[in-house]
Amino acid sequence: MQITKVHEFAKAIIMEAGERIRSSFSEKWKIETKADANDLVTNIDRETELFFIEKITAFDPSHKILGEEGMGEKIDSLDGVVWIIDPIDGTMNFIRQHRNFAISIGVYINGVGKLGYIYDVMRDQLYFAEEGQGAFMNEIPLKPLEAISLDKAIIGLNATWVTPNKKIEHLPMIELVRTVRGTRSYGSAALEIVSVACGRMDAYISMRLSPWDVAGGVVIANEVGAIASNLKNEPINLLKQDTFIVANPTIHSEIINHYIQLKYDNK
Ligand code: IPD
Ligand code: CA
Ligand code: CA
Repeated sequence: MQITKVHEFAKAIIMEAGERIRSSFSEKWKIETKADANDLVTNIDRETELFFIEKITAFDPSHKILGEEGMGEKIDSLDGVVWIIDPIDGTMNFIRQHRNFAISIGVYINGVGKLGYIYDVMRDQLYFAEEGQGAFMNEIPLKPLEAISLDKAIIGLNATWVTPNKKIEHLPMIELVRTVRGTRSYGSAALEIVSVACGRMDAYISMRLSPWDVAGGVVIANEVGAIASNLKNEPINLLKQDTFIVANPTIHSEIINHYIQLKYDNK
């Protein structure tokens, strides 16, 4: 398989999908809920995923596709070429803010992240990386991350985890918030991961993400030297939901070792 051909093809379909999403603002969307009242999905999420599946299948029917909306295959192994797709990451932002959402795609070969894309649709900014070739935003190279201390760091974190909750001890999290320079919460895991890759934030922590939330982002993050793992400092498993952290390498272990106390075993 020629990776350059796959890249040119991926870029073209992502840009086309972005154009379709922008055009959809003039239509009336169908908005539904999924797992709970705050878990939203629109016909545009589903149509975008279907668009990718049809294009990729026509490009090479041997490629497997794992998509958030479940319109691809059921995947229980990462053997072969696997596209992991979130058609719209940040659907709540898409619906309510009409910005701050992204298309997120990772292309993995036998479990190794080869190509990663995060397209900030409304800013028309395509973040991209190929394994071993560096990361880019609209063809401009991203710089390797520079060392930072925790007291100067900005971290991405949902405020829920600083209040009493079932998943993580909140008191060490309060301590973390007091220690760092600032916190942010953007509502799109993909955009938060690229914020770390660009050095606009220094870490992003989540208590539960799915493979499609992180697959594209970790390929990009790896290329600038960021470290991605679960909150037990284990490698990312793209076949299940898990806790997640991506961080500047100088603070990744410090955050996990000093501030993260999970209340349960995240299987
Ligand atoms: C969600 C966003 C959000 C994160 C959630 C994800 P979706 O993805 O990335 O920032 O906190 O865990 O599920 O549902 O908008 O694709
Ligand atoms: Ca998502
Ligand atoms: Ca989504």
